[in-house]
Amino acid sequence: MASIFKELELGPKDVFLDMGSGIGNLVMLASLITPIKRSVGIEILDTPAKLAEEQKLWFSRILSHIGKKHRPFELIHDDCTKTKYLKEVRQATIIFMNNFSFPPELMTKIKKMLVFCENGRRIITTERLFPADRTGNTVGVVQDLNDVETFMDERVMHCIGENCVSWTHKPIPFYLYTINRK
Ligand SMILES: C[S@@+](CC[C@H](N)C(=O)[O-])C[C@H]1O[C@@H](n2cnc3c(N)ncnc32)[C@H](O)[C@@H]1O
Repeated sequence: MASIFKELELGPKDVFLDMGSGIGNLVMLASLITPIKRSVGIEILDTPAKLAEEQKLWFSRILSHIGKKHRPFELIHDDCTKTKYLKEVRQATIIFMNNFSFPPELMTKIKKMLVFCENGRRIITTERLFPADRTGNTVGVVQDLNDVETFMDERVMHCIGENCVSWTHKPIPFYLYTINRK
């Protein structure tokens, strides 16, 4: 993921949001290796959310021990599709979701939230948001939302090398969507 963060060229105005942040690894990584304004993760399950809290304590302690700073971050234990998190979705400039195993109902809820993102906002996923067409190109139209003017441009990014993400040893593709309302 570090290589993806580098490629995205995150800056001090960026806010990173991980929808389904597990034990908080990416939220903390973004806060450590990028100059972003803020990093936020929302995790629904008790066990990873508890581990994330524990990691957060260690992360802060170790960094302060070695005199290293990190950008502000927040780990929330909740369902990221609740209406109150629309604010986080709107504020985020980079939204990440490791949605490989997200069920269709969850994806429908998330897509409805993504409609509120402004132009230029970027969304990174591990599973396509929209099916690819026959040529392999995808321009996603959020049809089920009656918002035909909402377009997302898709680009496939490859995470190169072994162990580039924590959840698998294999190199995997990421899908980068940019909100681009014409
Ligand atoms: C594959 S894990 C990814 C963890 C982390 N983002 C990463 O990439 O290392 C997906 C996570 O999404 C969480 N999740 C699923 N539905 C969610 C929801 N509605 N709200 C918040 N988290 C959710 C799962 O519990 C799981 O921890």
